[in-house]
Amino acid sequence: MNTWIITGVTSGIGKELAKLCIRKQIAVIGVGRNQEKLQKVQQELGPLFTPMCFDVSDTLAWDAFAKKLQEENRTDIACLVNNAGQLPSCKRFDAYSLEEIQRTMQTNFLAAVYASKALLPILLKYNKPTIANVTSSAALASMAGTSLYSASKAALKAFTESMREELKGLVRVVLLCPGTTKTDVFRNQAEDFKSNANHIGMRADVMAKKIFAAIQHKKRRAVIGFDAKMMDILYRYFPRSTPATLSSVLKKSKMDAYQTMYRKEKNDKNGTN
Ligand SMILES: NC(=O)c1ccc[n+]([C@@H]2O[C@H](COP(=O)([O-])OP(=O)(O)OC[C@H]3O[C@@H](n4cnc5c(N)ncnc54)[C@H](OP(=O)(O)O)[C@@H]3O)[C@@H](O)[C@H]2O)c1
Repeated sequence: MNTWIITGVTSGIGKELAKLCIRKQIAVIGVGRNQEKLQKVQQELGPLFTPMCFDVSDTLAWDAFAKKLQEENRTDIACLVNNAGQLPSCKRFDAYSLEEIQRTMQTNFLAAVYASKALLPILLKYNKPTIANVTSSAALASMAGTSLYSASKAALKAFTESMREELKGLVRVVLLCPGTTKTDVFRNQAEDFKSNANHIGMRADVMAKKIFAAIQHKKRRAVIGFDAKMMDILYRYFPRSTPATLSSVLKKSKMDAYQTMYRKEKNDKNGTN
């Protein structure tokens, strides 16, 4: 039996992916930062699920986890899925606090770098292991209101693509770019934003199934969901105008976050605030 390490298993896509693995008789070590939520997942998923409680942005925790796996002489770790992530609230870049900026880059980008670095020696004990990084459609095309999130996911995309070349022949490296999915990731957004995402989003279990298939079928890159595919195609053919096109669609929407952002822009121009 082989084992997958999945981060961010206490909800959404990560939890559904863990469920799916276990249904397929793949053991899961699930990383989460909330002990109570992890225990609930463990009760739900049973003995093939092992919880690991730490914050993915904690480098020392990754080193300690890697040391533990080394001591246990684990040779069964077939796959690392860097899935944990967060979406900061939608606003203009100068409205983010320093804490929000650092936390977003730590969680969405640096955590996957720490995890890959710490766990590579253990993964290499398995024949052709996999590292799969969950980025986002936001890594494929940027727009107003998501500067921080897009930048963190684009950094992860670039890291993934370089790492794939560096580890060619040793590790399969999969870039995953999901589109909108109905999960708790929108918890920091205004109600209208949340309800739009819920309206167009794919179900988390369906997204997890597609992610699982992409990993199993040894895909290098999977862009999943209609909106993600559209953003990919638009940016590929119209790299200069796509950010403006996407932003102007959002500007015309009646969503609170965009109304506030563009009111701020008007005030800046008029010298008021
Ligand atoms: N939903 C979408 O529309 C969408 C689209 C594209 C990409 N994605 C990406 O998909 C991934 C999964 O997100 P989701 O939609 O399933 O959202 P979610 O339901 O909010 O799940 C995120 C998971 O990451 C965990 N997490 C966040 N920060 C962490 C930290 N510092 N340490 C440990 N765990 C942490 C959360 O734990 P807690 O329960 O403790 O918060 C939760 O288990 C993310 O990388 C997200 O950016 C989502």
